Amino acid sequence: MSDLATFVRKLPKAELHLHIEGALEPELAFAIAERNDIALPYSSVDELRAAYRFANLQEFLDVYYACAGVLVESQDFYDLTWSYLERARTDNVRHAEIFFDPQTHTARGVEFATVVDGISWALDDARDKLGLTSRLILCFLRHLDEACALETLAAAMSYRDRIAGVGLDSGERGNPPRKFAEVFRRARDAGFVPVAHAGEEGPAEYVREALEVLEVVRIDHGNNALDDPGVVAELLRRRTPLTVCPLSNLKLCVVDDLASHPLKRMLDLGLFVTVNSDDPAYFGGYVNDNYVAIASALGLGKADLVRLARNSFAASLLPETDKARLIRELDAVSSPLR
Ligand code: ADE
Ligand code: ZN
Repeated sequence: MSDLATFVRKLPKAELHLHIEGALEPELAFAIAERNDIALPYSSVDELRAAYRFANLQEFLDVYYACAGVLVESQDFYDLTWSYLERARTDNVRHAEIFFDPQTHTARGVEFATVVDGISWALDDARDKLGLTSRLILCFLRHLDEACALETLAAAMSYRDRIAGVGLDSGERGNPPRKFAEVFRRARDAGFVPVAHAGEEGPAEYVREALEVLEVVRIDHGNNALDDPGVVAELLRRRTPLTVCPLSNLKLCVVDDLASHPLKRMLDLGLFVTVNSDDPAYFGGYVNDNYVAIASALGLGKADLVRLARNSFAASLLPETDKARLIRELDAVSSPLR
């Protein structure tokens, strides 16, 4: 393991941008497909992996939704979530905030309860067996209409104790945050913490709308915010965290190469940046791989990496006392290393 990888591995960290359906490794997808007697549109693990060449977000989403189609029983959602959590623990992830896309499953006749129960069961096991805490965030699919999102929110109301927040994902272009103003208003009123994907493929204006119309407390990605100094000023004024995903941006051609990734510029501007894996089974790396790849490409130093890990706890939905405890642990580990 390189020096950099060893250093990153030692840092306790939180992961705040992770789609559980995007943690479905091809081997597990085939195993679950077989036991559910579902045919994947690929003949083998190798053929599926070979399909992981994406020119944009939509090309990825087509494969991602096809693979999510194997998930039917609570056990499937458990196995998927557990496999991610065990893997994350080896990266020294101490806290994970996990997105799930219920509409992908309910549209196929899978009950909302089946999805949430399976995921929650694994989250409880991770807390008890791995010492890894978590929060669950329900994402509305923005390519669908707001009426469908409202139905999904209605189903989530009986799971207020299980679901901490709501988010917005799927195809961004042509699906502005304002399309979901009402469902986010109702979700906020019900106590769900609002976050949203914005500025991944969409313009800086979508980041502004997510802040001002959806009143989000975090922006997922946010790359294109840098195109508008007014939006950057607003992110700084609000101290809104950005959950940045370097390898995802590379795989989805949001950036041409990691050397031109905006993360260093974001840090230099004083933005509240975190590093995350997004859909690690599809993008060639889990969270530590993202830290290592972006640090190598942009020449980040150890102090930058510690700052990113500190931000990950500070930007989480954990209570302040838990944040402070985890940041003390990070400081204890990192100060002798620097
Ligand atoms: N769903 C899963 N990954 C996503 C991403 N990177 N952007 C939008 N929606 C997603
Ligand atoms: Zn994402």
